[in-house]
Amino acid sequence: MKRVTTLLAISMSLVTAVAATTSSFVPADDGAGAAIADGKLPAGYRDWRFISAAREEGVLDDIRAVLGNDAAIDAYRKTTLPFPDGTVIARLAWSYDSSAENDSAFGRKQSFVAGHPKNGVQFMVKDTVKYAATGGWLYAQFDDGKPLRDDAQPTSCFQCHRAVIDRDYVFTRYAR
Ligand code: HEC
Repeated sequence: MKRVTTLLAISMSLVTAVAATTSSFVPADDGAGAAIADGKLPAGYRDWRFISAAREEGVLDDIRAVLGNDAAIDAYRKTTLPFPDGTVIARLAWSYDSSAENDSAFGRKQSFVAGHPKNGVQFMVKDTVKYAATGGWLYAQFDDGKPLRDDAQPTSCFQCHRAVIDRDYVFTRYAR
């Protein structure tokens, strides 16, 4: 009986240990947030994983992709809200070009593809303490790899993103 109790105690503590490890899983800091805050494009962001795509008409007139670092993807897949500190979400955009080559393959005019980079690369970096004044997010834009030095810009970013305060200021939903 004693042996059974001991075994039970051991397996119970194993369960607790495993549960603790799983629930406290935090992707390692990739330094992306620090680079962006320092006015630099984060290394490797072009290889981040895909969250979704969007098409904007009007003045923007582009096709865009939203990518996330490991912390972002992890939170999206677990539907964790608010996003944890260390989350970085990137928005890339390109001109929306019709493709004669693809059209001829399909035998009709129907194809549009991503052309040249357009409308900068935008980032949202989560740090609840550092960026408390703007909902816990740093907003940053890079044009041709250089940070946009428009002091009014981050405020207008935040003002518009407030529309989705109930989704932690993030518009894009995860495309499954
Ligand atoms: C007029 C409203 C508006 C302004 C201003 C704005 N955004 Fe957004 N942003 C959106 C919308 C809507 C989306 C989702 C659709 C899309 O990507 O076009 C989005 C998407 C994003 C995303 C992808 C994550 C998400 O929330 O979906 C990032 C990153 C981002 N914006 C950063 C910025 C930055 C940085 C600025 C300021 C330089 C900015 N935004 C200004 C409306 C805005």
